[in-house]
Parts: sequence; C-alpha cells; structure tokens
Amino acid sequence: MRFDILTLFPDMFPGYMSQSILNKSIERGLVEIHVHNMRDWAKGRHNKIDDSPYGGGPGMVLMVEPVVNCVRDVQKMTSQPGTVIMLTPQGQRLSQPLVEELAVEKRMILLCGRYEGFDQRVIDILQPREISIGDYILNGGEVASMVLVDSLVRMVPGVLGDELSSFDDSFSRGNRMLEYPQYTRPQEFEGREVPEILLSGNHGEIEIWRNAKSLEHTKTKRSDLLEDQ
Ligand code: ADE
Repeated sequence: MRFDILTLFPDMFPGYMSQSILNKSIERGLVEIHVHNMRDWAKGRHNKIDDSPYGGGPGMVLMVEPVVNCVRDVQKMTSQPGTVIMLTPQGQRLSQPLVEELAVEKRMILLCGRYEGFDQRVIDILQPREISIGDYILNGGEVASMVLVDSLVRMVPGVLGDELSSFDDSFSRGNRMLEYPQYTRPQEFEGREVPEILLSGNHGEIEIWRNAKSLEHTKTKRSDLLEDQ
C-alpha cells in the first residue's frame, strides 16, 4: 500500500513514520509513504500557495493551480494511479467499515488542507474522496491523514504480527462490540486481583466470560453501538 501525502507541513510526518508498527511495515516493504511539500509547486519568488478569499472574509484559501499541478505530478510518479482523498471536516465520517472499504486500494494520494481550505475548483477538478475523522475542526488535515494511514496500515496483510489481531478488533467485520478487559502481571496490585477465571486455564469458560464482559462494557460505555445495528 502506497501513500503520497501532500501537505504544507512535511516535517510533521517523520516522527510518526519512524515508530512502531508503521516503521516496521515500511522497513519490510509492506507500506510506502512519500510526503510532498505542496509549496514546491507554487510559482514566483515567494512560493505563494494561498491567497485571500474572493468576496472577502477571514483567512487564506489554498490556490487551485499549485495544488492541482502537485496532484498531477505526484500521480505520474508511479504507473499505479492513486485514489485522491481530501481530509476535510466536510467529508464522509471515517469509520471501520470505511477503513475496510479503502483497504483494497493499492495507492492513495492524501490532500491535507490548512487555513480556510482549498479553492472549490480543486475539488471540482480532482473530485477527491472527501473524508473527515470526526465532527470537530483540526488545524489542518495532517493529523487526520495520520489517523487514516494508521487505520489502513493495520489492514495490510502481514503488518500485524498476529494475522488475527485486526480481524478480532472491536468494530471489524461488522463487529460493533467493545473489547473485553485485559490483565497482565502482577496478579494483585493494591488489593485488586485479576479475575480468577483468567487464571483457570479453561479456554471455553474464559471465552464466555470475555464475551459477557464485552457486552457489559458496550452497554455501559457505548450503548449507541447496540442500538443502531
Ligand atoms: N481538517 C480539519 N478538521 C478535520 C477533520 N475533522 N477531519 C479531517 N480533516 C480535517
């Protein structure tokens, strides 16, 4: 799976990409991430990428020409065309079913906005898939693109050590239950004991207990998940 991330703040990404599962997936060749600075496509002495909105109003708007040129040039970097995705609070809300839908893509070009957003003609010309990570406003699409990448990388075969672990997750494959509680050593901490059933070695009983706890947690913390099925 290849991601091309188009941003005005490329320095936000190396830290995220150099850690943990993502770093390992990149090293193993399962995932490629290429970060491009859209400002490199801006013209003129000042590399102007944004301008004030026609009609007035606060903030700055990302200009159509450098953004469209950037996407077109980045598309040409490999023969596999990339699905263009714009991270925006106006987009379709990201959910596990949407992650599973996008996980079939081999290449995605992620457009991260800033300021008051993109000139509408960027959207009209490129017709990106618009995705929001939730109903709140971030300072830009960068963190949202990391959320999207993080959720997608988990779906790439071989990325997770244990192939079953993403399959088993809350919200995967239509599963709308929260996880059961987990415990590890020590067996007792400040008087709080690990539930005895987990020490019993009886896998059948443990599974029944875990399912019951999953349901109990879902009912108390996220009853909405059980309602709208
Ligand atoms: N850019 C700003 N806010 C955003 C959000 N909630 N989701 C995706 N991109 C964004």
